[in-house]
Amino acid sequence: MSDIQSFRDTIESFIAARGWTPTRFGRQIAGDPLFVFDLREGREPRSETRQRILKAMQDAAEAPPAPPLRIGVAGLGNVGATLVRILQRDGEELTRKLGRSVVVTAVAARSRSKDRGIDISGLAWFDDPVALAKSDGIDLFVELIGGEDGPALAAVRAALEIGRPVVTANKALLARHGVALARLAEENAAQLGFEAAVAGGIPVIKTLREGLGSARVARVYGIMNGTCNYILTRMGNEVISFDDCLKDAQRLGYAEADPTFDVGGFDTAHKLAILSSLCFGCEIAPDEIFVEGITSITQADIKVAGDLGYKIKLLGIAQRSPEGIEQRVHPTLVSKSSAIAGVDGVLNAVALETDHVHELLLAGPGAGGPPTASSVLSDILDIARGNRVPPLGVPSQELVPYRQAPMKAHEGGYYIRLNARDVPGAFAAIASRMGAAGISLESVIQRPDLRVTDAGPADASIRTIVLLTHSTLEQSVREALALIAADGFIVGQPQLIRIESL
Ligand SMILES: NC(=O)c1ccc[n+]([C@@H]2O[C@H](COP(=O)([O-])OP(=O)(O)OC[C@H]3O[C@@H](n4cnc5c(N)ncnc54)[C@H](OP(=O)(O)O)[C@@H]3O)[C@@H](O)[C@H]2O)c1
Repeated sequence: MSDIQSFRDTIESFIAARGWTPTRFGRQIAGDPLFVFDLREGREPRSETRQRILKAMQDAAEAPPAPPLRIGVAGLGNVGATLVRILQRDGEELTRKLGRSVVVTAVAARSRSKDRGIDISGLAWFDDPVALAKSDGIDLFVELIGGEDGPALAAVRAALEIGRPVVTANKALLARHGVALARLAEENAAQLGFEAAVAGGIPVIKTLREGLGSARVARVYGIMNGTCNYILTRMGNEVISFDDCLKDAQRLGYAEADPTFDVGGFDTAHKLAILSSLCFGCEIAPDEIFVEGITSITQADIKVAGDLGYKIKLLGIAQRSPEGIEQRVHPTLVSKSSAIAGVDGVLNAVALETDHVHELLLAGPGAGGPPTASSVLSDILDIARGNRVPPLGVPSQELVPYRQAPMKAHEGGYYIRLNARDVPGAFAAIASRMGAAGISLESVIQRPDLRVTDAGPADASIRTIVLLTHSTLEQSVREALALIAADGFIVGQPQLIRIESL
């Protein structure tokens, strides 16, 4: 074999053994990013260049390789099994990106024999996630079990207590114990990543914590539950009731067997509590959120809202107000022309209104194995690179206690649907109660096709009326509705949906 041929072969084996790109070899060893490409095309380097490159290759070969980052994954369900699959499949690519390999060495789940479509034969198995979190065989612990207490909390604590970095996708855990866990991580100089805990595959945590830097967030709002967005989108596109739509969502795997947590708005509230802390530098307060779910939304609401130029979305909204921080989750009328109104189906979106960059809308898949595992992986890569930021954006000692603005101080427009008795004076009495409370009406809609008979069987003597108010205080609306109900002109519960100007 000629000298030049042997020189070429040595370089190709060097590149292949390390999973390097030709460009990296060119830059790091030869001092010219195009060197390997030129060589492959037949350009022959001079003998002294060859000697210099062979010496640089020898030096690089003698340098000890960076040790692999060994990962322990607790929870091999939807997200955990996908993460292991991605790490096993894309190992070479990740090594190239990081300059060190990332390998799963140990796993924990309940059933060892379950077929998860991944090969765990070479991995250490743990029945106990806490034992895995403390094991000497890992450098980073990934918690993908779920639940706000129990094994997830115990294992995350165990890892942080010994200074081991942790990545989790667990919003319930973060919402309930986020501040204490952030403190524990800081005390033990361990990183805590939770990008996947809010809006699945959308990198909203990193954007808030690092991307926006010093920008002051005035308001954050978003669609953070794919199940609710799927149901509301379908109800808007087809004539289908909430109950039938929910059954379909369950059949398609978009909704849990017990959907209360999603459709009741509590899942969105957990995510909003985490976002609020990052936006406003306050403690996480999941119990201080005004929460209304979507179960009372009817086809009539969606239709009238649509005719008036609105869509109904379940939004989580947090904003500063003179009274404190307003955190609320409720169905919301949003203008069809707003960007968030275009986020349909199972997609999520988070909008950040800041003083410097004004409005930023991040939209994408909010759940599912691959998008969520991709966010988990992004935290793993950050940790592998040695990036260090306080988990909640500011040191946990600096977080201010959360001061909740009372919901009755909320100001905005309202959609009010009432079932009124069709008797003389009913409408005049309703209008006069509204006027007396200082509520100015933008529109009053009463159409024969609008009949919501939540008061019982269809009754010709009941008319459904929809009122749209200009911006007003929540307290005024509630007081006026209480008086209207006491007057005896309406039957059933009034439907109240807040309008948000976005
Ligand atoms: N799925 C999503 O789209 C999504 C999106 C964003 C965030 N997340 C979050 O990601 C986390 C995981 O969600 P997932 O959907 O992957 O859940 P999942 O499919 O229910 O998987 C949970 C896993 O935890 C294991 N497990 C449960 N109890 C355990 C215990 N005591 N000891 C050891 N292992 C235990 C289960 O083991 P077995 O398999 O043996 O039963 C299972 O592998 C949750 O915090 C969730 O909120 C999920």
